[in-house]
Amino acid sequence: MPKSISQVAVSPEMFDKIEGSYSADRISEGTAVRKPVEVEGKLYLATGSGMGKVEAYQLIPREEFTGGVRTYKVPPGREYDEYYESLRNDPNGFYHGMLVKRGAHEHALVGPPIIFVVKATKKNTNRALVTHSVALKILGPSFELHPTGLTVIGKPTEEEYEEAFRRLSLIEDSQAWWWGDLANAQEKHYGYVQEFCERYERNWATITTYQSVCNHYEPLNRFKGLSFKHHMVAAPLDDRLEWLKKAEFGWSAAELAKQIRLAKILPPSFDGVLPTISHADYRNWLPQQPNCDLLLTDPPYSTEVKDIQSFAQDWLPLALVKIKPTGRAYIFIGAYPKELQAYLRINTGNMTLANIMVWEYQNAIGPASKLDYNLNWQALLYYRGPDAPELDCPILTEQFAVQEVNAPDGRTGIRYNEWQKPDELAERLIRHSTKPDHLVLDCFAGTGTFLLAAAKFKRVARGCDISKDMIEIAIKRGCEFVQL
Ligand SMILES: C[S@@+](CC[C@H](N)C(=O)[O-])C[C@H]1O[C@@H](n2cnc3c(N)ncnc32)[C@H](O)[C@@H]1O
Repeated sequence: MPKSISQVAVSPEMFDKIEGSYSADRISEGTAVRKPVEVEGKLYLATGSGMGKVEAYQLIPREEFTGGVRTYKVPPGREYDEYYESLRNDPNGFYHGMLVKRGAHEHALVGPPIIFVVKATKKNTNRALVTHSVALKILGPSFELHPTGLTVIGKPTEEEYEEAFRRLSLIEDSQAWWWGDLANAQEKHYGYVQEFCERYERNWATITTYQSVCNHYEPLNRFKGLSFKHHMVAAPLDDRLEWLKKAEFGWSAAELAKQIRLAKILPPSFDGVLPTISHADYRNWLPQQPNCDLLLTDPPYSTEVKDIQSFAQDWLPLALVKIKPTGRAYIFIGAYPKELQAYLRINTGNMTLANIMVWEYQNAIGPASKLDYNLNWQALLYYRGPDAPELDCPILTEQFAVQEVNAPDGRTGIRYNEWQKPDELAERLIRHSTKPDHLVLDCFAGTGTFLLAAAKFKRVARGCDISKDMIEIAIKRGCEFVQL
């Protein structure tokens, strides 16, 4: 967090607008940004949101930016973690100096960021409840809580102060659990919770995050010695309780996140078969591959190719014939009507398109336009061969056709590129559809997410990508380069 951060209070309407300019999956070097917002004559772009606050950087034309341009590619000779740590610790903020596009014009993000909060109104300062006698005692007999402050009675002992600090920290940390459990219960009893959030001016996206964390942990599985943030960091993982046990020995939430990130990269001592990646066009690469048990891939979307119909027609049949009759395929496609139409028209040969699944992520906030809805999902086409065995899906909720997993977010984890898919989702699909030593192919491997997930589960993984930059990252993450 930058040191010289300042907080600005804005109207609820303005707050919503600023928050609407945030989309965790879109802020990336060189790409177009979501609609920035003008506040007092300056343009701002939100880069983070939560707990009733929005972090935003100023956006200025490239030619007016006099500072150094920032790149998120790790410079030669520097370690990934060390380099990113230095960016996170920069007093001007993580995104200061990032070049992005606004329309056709290059702009720079300028820090240190501002934290926007909602201006207090009559309605949200009316907190007489806090003066209730129970609340008065919460921090100890020498401390009184009021709607707009705290009064210290006499001169409490140092121990009393320490106890007050301890209790207030506990209350602050527990609030996230309380909100999550409260909203889950309300939703269970009466349905939708959004209306309450609006009435009490709570950030709905934040509350839904709390709900999701609470849903990941039965009350008995919550670790009293660890913060809500620890639980949030580990929530998406299947082995979340194991990670929390490790964190109990003194890791901060940031350290836990770092350790999880490191574990996602294949360690040098990895004893399975390394996933391989080749620098090639799928047209040349696919015909040279043996038949596979799983095709797991994420081709460029209709926003990236000229004619999605002919692109889909060109690559998909070529790839589907490479799947054994016992095999399966999962293909991520953009949720654009013309892209769906293009793929649904393709003849699938002896493979059956069995489900149109949905990958849904909650961390893309705010409407993109007043006319349409903001996409927070991608289609996941699921095909199976005529002799495919049953799915290996012991966790029933994982067998839902709608898979809810947040998109990788550069601020809370590793995000190498804007299309990167979450490790957790990749790992699920691989576990469901293959066994150790099965062959997994990815003809649009990008940064190697699917290949690495497959190798982690001792599958044999092979992929290709046309971009040298992507391959470079995939190699850094643990893939082995092989010449076609
Ligand atoms: C949507 S991205 C895949 C991202 C990947 N799932 C990840 O997690 O990093 C699509 C990839 O297809 C690659 N690509 C585009 N055209 C290709 C082609 N003709 N042959 C092979 N790869 C290609 C792009 O370079 C890009 O990395």
